[in-house]
Amino acid sequence: MKQKTVFCCTECGNETLKWSGRCPVCGAWDSFKEVKLEKSGGKTAAVRSAKVPKLISELDNEEELRFSTGIGELDRVLGGGAVKGSIVLVGGAPGIGKSTLLLQLCGLVDEGQKILYVSGEESERQIKMRAQRLGVDGGKIYVLAETGLNEVLSAAERLEPDLVIIDSIQTMFDADVSSAPGSISQVRECTMAIMRQTKDRGYTTFVVGHINKEGSIAGPKVLEHMVDCVLYFEGERSTSFRILRAGKNRFGSTNEIGVFEMADNGLKELQNPSEILLSGRPDAAPGTCVTCVIEGSRPILAEIQALVAPSAYNSGRRSSNGIDYNRATLLLAVLEKRGGMALSGCDAYINVIGGLELDEPSADLATVLAIASSFRDKPLGADLAAVGEVGLSGEVRSINSLNMRLTEISRLGFKRCVIPAHIKDDIKAPQGLELIAVKDIREAIRQTLG
Ligand code: TYD
Ligand code: MG
Repeated sequence: MKQKTVFCCTECGNETLKWSGRCPVCGAWDSFKEVKLEKSGGKTAAVRSAKVPKLISELDNEEELRFSTGIGELDRVLGGGAVKGSIVLVGGAPGIGKSTLLLQLCGLVDEGQKILYVSGEESERQIKMRAQRLGVDGGKIYVLAETGLNEVLSAAERLEPDLVIIDSIQTMFDADVSSAPGSISQVRECTMAIMRQTKDRGYTTFVVGHINKEGSIAGPKVLEHMVDCVLYFEGERSTSFRILRAGKNRFGSTNEIGVFEMADNGLKELQNPSEILLSGRPDAAPGTCVTCVIEGSRPILAEIQALVAPSAYNSGRRSSNGIDYNRATLLLAVLEKRGGMALSGCDAYINVIGGLELDEPSADLATVLAIASSFRDKPLGADLAAVGEVGLSGEVRSINSLNMRLTEISRLGFKRCVIPAHIKDDIKAPQGLELIAVKDIREAIRQTLG
């Protein structure tokens, strides 16, 4: 048997026949790894392609079959529940809570579902102990501590489950592939085989993937191309917050997030993340301002902090966490030029609390106010929030969904909110919330910091 090898870029999944030092597609250096194409894989693929094409008008047009995972926040990120016949990759750093999430899912999903929980990382006893601690019992949960791909596939074939969980893909091992578990060829062949069986049998598979230091799922990016959904489980290990985000979703949008808190007895869903995100907020500290962003369909309040201090160097250092670095430096420049603050000789650090990433321009105004407040060393007051986009001339521009944001801001007890002056007529201030309409950042600073 003649074995064929190709070279596969670990960054983008590009395949070539010849090795090269730099990937011509994504530009990554030293990213090509040799991958052996197993003969058996090729043959199966050829047989599969012998399927007869069908007319699109003759295909069943019923919606994909969805079911609830029993975890509302997970359903939300998946686009309204899990889809039968789909494969979902759950990525995240070690210890973030991937195994916990999926084991809890086993206990919460509808009792009638037959589940196969495969773990290559823990023994059956360890899984049992963890399940007990999480209060997962009963139901039709079958546990298999196994790393052999063929054993896993045949167990799934015999059991005919509705749901399969593989924890993790990096521990799975296909005996036909000569390289070590976790290598590109292994991860790729195993995912391919699991995916094929998932689609054929119509069950749903959740696969855990560890994330490497660059933040992508260890092994090749190819993995992300193959599966239907990629969910990232994020958060700082030092805080109890966890955010579930879709990086790819064939069956729904990718802008919904799910928010959890890691407690002693597992993950808790946070339906009202704003409250927790704002808890522990200093009352009268300078350099903090709250804003409201829309994540998917949900308004979430976020606290932006800024620390501005005279720099020891000629040009100040800038760092930004949770807000795009370029956006942050742009806002600092606008504030310097249009707000008359001498920031270039200052170091400026900007941080969003709770590990949130704000990518909406509506957070601009609150960022500017937090910086100005730190620069003047004067608090804005704990009852103030701000929403609005800031333009290059320092003008404050209107944003969408203002009513929804104001309602959330008012619900959390804020008394004053800075908003753009040019807004549509249908904007109504919720009771007890004073609106401060401003045309530009100078006016915003004058009205809030005097
Ligand atoms: P785990 O689900 O094992 O992470 P992963 O599978 O992503 O590697 O989560 C392990 C961490 O979560 C560990 O640091 C302990 C913590 N944890 C709790 O705080 N409470 C719990 O109930 C459980 C099960 C874990
Ligand atoms: Mg784990």
